[in-house]
Amino acid sequence: MIDWRIHNADVTESTNIDARKGLHGDVFTAKMQTRGKGRLDHKWLSPPNENLLVSIVLDVNGIDVAEVATLPLVAGLSVAEALSGFIQDVRIKWPNDVWVKGKKICGILCERNHDNVIVGIGVNVKQREFPPPIGKTATSLFLENAPEEFLEPQGVLRELLKKIEANYSQWKASSFKELHKRITSFDLLKGRDISVRQTDDDNDIVSGRCEGISEDGSLIVGSTKIYAGEAHVIQ
Ligand code: BTN
Repeated sequence: MIDWRIHNADVTESTNIDARKGLHGDVFTAKMQTRGKGRLDHKWLSPPNENLLVSIVLDVNGIDVAEVATLPLVAGLSVAEALSGFIQDVRIKWPNDVWVKGKKICGILCERNHDNVIVGIGVNVKQREFPPPIGKTATSLFLENAPEEFLEPQGVLRELLKKIEANYSQWKASSFKELHKRITSFDLLKGRDISVRQTDDDNDIVSGRCEGISEDGSLIVGSTKIYAGEAHVIQ
């Protein structure tokens, strides 16, 4: 049982920054971020009061680094399972986005902080319009017709914490392998032709048929295992 301690702010720079002072079980939310952080040094933009912006502190002390690297997928699974309770066609897009019907509804940014990992999660809840360039590739619980009670960020957070608690506990007690089958059932990329950019280098791209997520959390493209990168569906 995790003793969640929830700290709600109206405005903050980034909940991932707030979470640096947290311990295992601390949860930092904000109604608005002035410097929301996305993966690969992108910004995470969200209008005030509309979306879930949360950072959860989880202890990974003593866990092998290769296993810690699978925690973002465990977080993705938890979001996917929580959202599946109120909308359909939820998928995990490796390494850790959650998509619905070809559009992104959630981004996850995990950062190591000493013995902990800060799991930063942004879920689009009430947002009705998305500005360019993400306009056509983003969605929200509102746009996916979620029931009224899940159109509040705090309602979504409650469901999410239940899933994180269960999945993190299972992951810690056993391993990522135990969760692999459930993650695979949400896999958006398996069986599709994709290209994965592994670094900032435009030449560092692997393309081919995606064979899915392996038991160590890497993505299998053709016969290559990829441990980090940004995937794009070609077909
Ligand atoms: C991505 O690039 O897809 C990851 C986005 C992660 C955004 C969330 S919002 C709450 C937390 N605080 C941040 O500054 N970023 C994460």
